[in-house]
Amino acid sequence: MNNNRDRKYKEIPGGFFISFEGIDFCGKSTQVKLLASKLDKDGYGVIVVREPGGTEISEKIRSILLDNSNRNLIPEAELLLYEASRAQLTRELIAPGIKAGKIILSDRYFDSSTAYQGYGRGLDIESIQKINLLASSGIKPNLTFLFDLDPEIAQYRYSSLPLFKDRLEEEKIEFHRRVRQGFLKIASAEPQRFKIIPADDDIINISKIIYSAVTDIIS
Ligand code: TYD
Repeated sequence: MNNNRDRKYKEIPGGFFISFEGIDFCGKSTQVKLLASKLDKDGYGVIVVREPGGTEISEKIRSILLDNSNRNLIPEAELLLYEASRAQLTRELIAPGIKAGKIILSDRYFDSSTAYQGYGRGLDIESIQKINLLASSGIKPNLTFLFDLDPEIAQYRYSSLPLFKDRLEEEKIEFHRRVRQGFLKIASAEPQRFKIIPADDDIINISKIIYSAVTDIIS
């Protein structure tokens, strides 16, 4: 998912990296698309990626991670697969994009590993943070939007859709509650990087809040 075009764009020295986080069905992917199109219209160079995935190799890793037949994937193997996908994505797209003065929008990044594999599955948080650092080559988002939503509302959203549910979406509600609390804890430790978005608000309102938070910083 690289909507980078061959044209002159408004360069941001040192680039600008934004990640979007939250539980499944919190609505972040819609907001990534809306923000990308606004920033593109404003003349910035925008790169949109998603995790797990975003490069050819990372998308192959994604298919292992979301495959319903991999129910006995052990938590440590799961963590390392997410991190492998991230290492590839960071080196292949994120680092060069930042260097070129572009805006990178990432649908999830390393905070998802801390929230899902750490707070959700119970793996050691400090060990995850060390692996996050390795996989991300020390590249941290300048800004992270956390879409905060009650898992009951998220569950209602997806149960009403006739969608195929992947391995993680099938997890029990208690798991998603732990993940949500985990995200809030991560955000409270880094209030300068995080902006918490109440995700049960209207799509258009949320998109305005996000756009103005970003343009306040970059313009
Ligand atoms: P995806 O279908 O992309 O869901 P979403 O649109 O909610 O991002 O699936 C990604 C799943 O992987 C999602 O359930 C969150 C999970 N995940 C982790 O458990 N750890 C991670 O490090 C990442 C990046 C994602």
